[in-house]
Amino acid sequence: MENLIIRKERKDDYFNVEYMTKKAFWNLHVPGCSEHYLVNILRKSDDYIEDLSRVAELNGEIVGTIMYTKSYVINETDSTEVLTFGPLCVEPSYQNKGIGKALLETTMELAKKDGHRAIIIYGEPEYYPRYGFKTCDNFGITTKDSKNFPAFMAIELVPNGLKDVHGRFYESKVFEELIEEKVEEFDKKFPYMQKLKLQGQWDF
Ligand SMILES: CC(C)(COP(=O)(O)OP(=O)(O)OC[C@H]1O[C@@H](n2cnc3c(N)ncnc32)[C@H](O)[C@@H]1OP(=O)(O)O)[C@@H](O)C(=O)NCCC(=O)NCCS
Repeated sequence: MENLIIRKERKDDYFNVEYMTKKAFWNLHVPGCSEHYLVNILRKSDDYIEDLSRVAELNGEIVGTIMYTKSYVINETDSTEVLTFGPLCVEPSYQNKGIGKALLETTMELAKKDGHRAIIIYGEPEYYPRYGFKTCDNFGITTKDSKNFPAFMAIELVPNGLKDVHGRFYESKVFEELIEEKVEEFDKKFPYMQKLKLQGQWDF
């Protein structure tokens, strides 16, 4: 895709990035979605890392985004900063054309150059292993509730980046601020889309 530009987000992209995010996640995991609201509050969070986050632009249109935050692996004696990304998403009509890959590879390279040791995420267990992500049990890292599961993955950005890092993973508090009423109110800024209960969504 020769016209694809991976660049930092500008203020005048904000609405388009949020709307693209709504389209990418709508009815994917639950009826509706909250990820476009997450994008909005992430930018204001102290944990947000603007220097690593990027958008994908194709022929003047925003077609993807990846946003990074600081998170921590904590045990009795140490607290180690690591990276988390999310949302990572691509406009539905442009998916499977390498845009997700371009966003991921460009920013992982930047993160390496900036000296970050590792990325830990909750993500699609089928998608991320191709980039080298492994489940966190391989590194002696659990969720803050002492759990491990396929969607909980990590990658070392430098050799042995997680070798001496064990403990529980704490992501930014901003991920806990997805209050339903606030998401509903925020969603009114965007074109209406119908909420549907679909097969393949998360069960609660
Ligand atoms: C997941 C996502 C970011 C990937 O970006 P993309 O530009 O569509 O993907 P790419 O073109 O870089 O990669 C395509 C490959 O990824 C695979 N892939 C895409 N989405 C996938 C998913 N959700 N699960 C597993 N594999 C997936 C495709 O099958 C394709 O595989 P192939 O190369 O073996 O044919 C994008 O599809 C998206 O926004 N999905 C909806 C939101 C989402 O799920 N975000 C990730 C949350 S963790």
